[in-house]
Amino acid sequence: MDSYDRMHSLTTLAVILLATVTDVLSSSDSSDFYNQTCPQAPTIVQNTVHDIMQKNKGIAAGVLQLQFHDCIITGCDGSILLSSPDNTSEKDALKSSLRGFTEIDQIKSAVEAECPGVVSCADILALAARDGVVEVAGKGWFVTLGRKDGMESNNSDVPLVHPGAFMSYDELVDTFAAKGFTAEEMITLSGAHTLGRAVCGLPPIQIRYYQYNGTIGSVDPSIDPNFARSVKQMCPMDTKSRVPVPLDLTNTTFDNKYYQAVLANQGVLKSDASLITNPDGRKLVTRYSQSDSDFQRDFGAVMEKLINQRWAKDGEIRRSWSAMNTDSISL
Ligand code: HEM
Ligand SMILES: *[C@@H]1O[C@H](CO)[C@@H](O)[C@H](O)[C@H]1NC(C)=O
Ligand SMILES: *[C@@H]1O[C@H](CO)[C@@H](O)[C@H](O)[C@H]1NC(C)=O
Ligand SMILES: *[C@@H]1O[C@H](CO)[C@@H](O)[C@H](O)[C@H]1NC(C)=O
Ligand SMILES: *[C@@H]1O[C@H](CO)[C@@H](O)[C@H](O)[C@H]1NC(C)=O
Ligand SMILES: *[C@@H]1O[C@H](CO)[C@@H](O)[C@H](O)[C@H]1NC(C)=O
Repeated sequence: MDSYDRMHSLTTLAVILLATVTDVLSSSDSSDFYNQTCPQAPTIVQNTVHDIMQKNKGIAAGVLQLQFHDCIITGCDGSILLSSPDNTSEKDALKSSLRGFTEIDQIKSAVEAECPGVVSCADILALAARDGVVEVAGKGWFVTLGRKDGMESNNSDVPLVHPGAFMSYDELVDTFAAKGFTAEEMITLSGAHTLGRAVCGLPPIQIRYYQYNGTIGSVDPSIDPNFARSVKQMCPMDTKSRVPVPLDLTNTTFDNKYYQAVLANQGVLKSDASLITNPDGRKLVTRYSQSDSDFQRDFGAVMEKLINQRWAKDGEIRRSWSAMNTDSISL
């Protein structure tokens, strides 16, 4: 073989490999990290998510939000799932709104029953978040496996990194930039609010709809008044209310209607409305409002980036979804 031929066959090989890789990386697939130790893990997660969602579709939203929080705080290491006896773990800083913990427990138990001590909680969360979105018509994304579960979970880490519901466009951009995401990626990720609900009694709703700017009875004037009225009909002025208000009218379908709502000044949260206060932001929101396929494609890509954020290096494979293995706690 002369060097041209060698080059040629290498190129051919590369093309074949690339084609194979592209073929393998379908949007509801995952890497083969557990092929030797628990090849059925991705299927067990998928089936359990499917079963849970026959009864409770909302869990897709709950688990997707958990995945975001897990990754944004200390990398995707399952530390959002950890409980602590004195209520000082990550989830305690956010507890009022998070849901999906009992379902993660159920999924983890199903996996443990087949392959004890093998599959990390962080990987289970990553699979479940994707599978939940696919169950409600999302295109999904590829999940690379092999995360370890983190050994630290500290509620004081949360406010430093967590985007606030009242942030302006620039504040949102800065918060996500600190984690390596562009303004465009921040806008794409915000599309997760196509699913789920906010809890009426919490400040994001009470303040925006009942005491904007600190004035009792005032509503954020940037909201479409009819929409504000309909939210107020669902949500009484009551900080104890646990009534849910949908973040999107089609909150059981993963679609681009969230962006149509934001453009019509019907984003539920102030942070949703902030996206169109900047000309570039408005442009991308407009594009997504017109193209579900652009949104789905970009969302999948940015989720792959999010879930591949730093994984705990010195982690473990937790046997329980919410507690470190006791033999690993150093005293
Ligand atoms: C852009 C900055 C963001 C802000 C300020 C924000 C804030 C919020 C707030 C205040 C809620 C309602 C919580 C409640 O009242 O119970 C919520 C819900 C939710 N968020 Fe975000 N979020 C942001 C980005 C994201 C991202 C990037 C994702 C995921 C990729 C996400 C996924 C969700 C989901 C799925 C829900 C609904 C949860 C459920 O129904 O259980 N959010 N968010
Ligand atoms: C890993 O397992 C999956 C599912 O059983 C299979 O589709 C895939 O080809 C396997 N990959 C390797 C490298 O063995
Ligand atoms: C932790 O939170 C639970 C439930 O919210 C509560 O019952 C318990 O008293 C709290 N424990 C501490 C030490 O604050
Ligand atoms: C949590 O973080 C705070 C602030 O960085 C620190 O003072 C505290 O010791 C940490 N707690 C644990 C249990 O690591
Ligand atoms: C949609 O919003 C309702 C509140 O209107 C809430 O109960 C439900 O859990 C949300 N659905 C999903 C899939 O999150
Ligand atoms: C809210 O308060 C800020 C600062 O005090 C002021 O500039 C703004 O005009 C107020 N907006 C509304 C709607 O009251």
